[in-house]
Amino acid sequence: MLTKQKKLILSTSQRNSMRRAGKTNGELMDFVRPQIKAGITTNEIDKLVHDWTYQRGHKAATLGYQKFPKCCCTSVNEVICHGIPDDYVLQEGDIVNVDITTIVDGWHGDQSETFIIGQTSEERRAVVQCAFDCMHLAIDALTPGCRVATIGEAIVPEAQGRGFSVVREYVGHGLGRQFHLDPSIPHFPNKQSRIDRLYPGMCFTVEPMINAGARYAKSDKVDGWTVRTKDGRPSAQFEHSVLMTEEGPEILTLTQDGPQKGHQF
Ligand code: MF3
Ligand code: CO
Ligand code: CO
Repeated sequence: MLTKQKKLILSTSQRNSMRRAGKTNGELMDFVRPQIKAGITTNEIDKLVHDWTYQRGHKAATLGYQKFPKCCCTSVNEVICHGIPDDYVLQEGDIVNVDITTIVDGWHGDQSETFIIGQTSEERRAVVQCAFDCMHLAIDALTPGCRVATIGEAIVPEAQGRGFSVVREYVGHGLGRQFHLDPSIPHFPNKQSRIDRLYPGMCFTVEPMINAGARYAKSDKVDGWTVRTKDGRPSAQFEHSVLMTEEGPEILTLTQDGPQKGHQF
């Protein structure tokens, strides 16, 4: 039987295309990271992403995606995800997630990091640390052919054990020639994720959003995109694109200069 999942198994050359896309996206993250400081606007971050991408002949996947107007998402403090770059000036103490997706020769690389601007509160620091640790815990738990639920089973106890919560409305996703593919990658276990499996040759994202307070989210009625915590408390996220191989998970969006597994914020 030809199942939906079978179509997502990438050949060796397709895997190499995803490796190139992920590597390029990681290089872009390394380029923007040192410029994310107090005083820069999120629009200026977007321009950095735009110019770097198009100068190299690549494309920003978010630009025009379901009418999203910018080349990256910038999500500050209580914004969970899908913040739209604007004239907001980053300030000491802010946390900002920058989520970048580049299309290289038709293939997608997708990743994000949350940056701490200068000195911040203990709550903000801890939620950033938790999101980072949860992403790596989940990736490390993966084995060839494992269930998608492995991810949620790693993340939920860790986040809740630290007194935080895991966002449920927004999830990771299959990734390839399209931005968002099956399978859905929730960061909590559910019925479908206990069925779906991650076979060698599959590409997907792991991108937990962790809230300092309650898990509930609300999206902005005016812009239609910005997703905030209902309780106004901070939220943080990290994302990598991952290829499952016969040997185990391979992170495609590694960076040279960014926080590595085990990093203490
Ligand atoms: N990059 C986000 C993700 O990780 C999706 C952003 S879609 C946008 O899936 F339209 F909001 F940009
Ligand atoms: Co992303
Ligand atoms: Co993603």
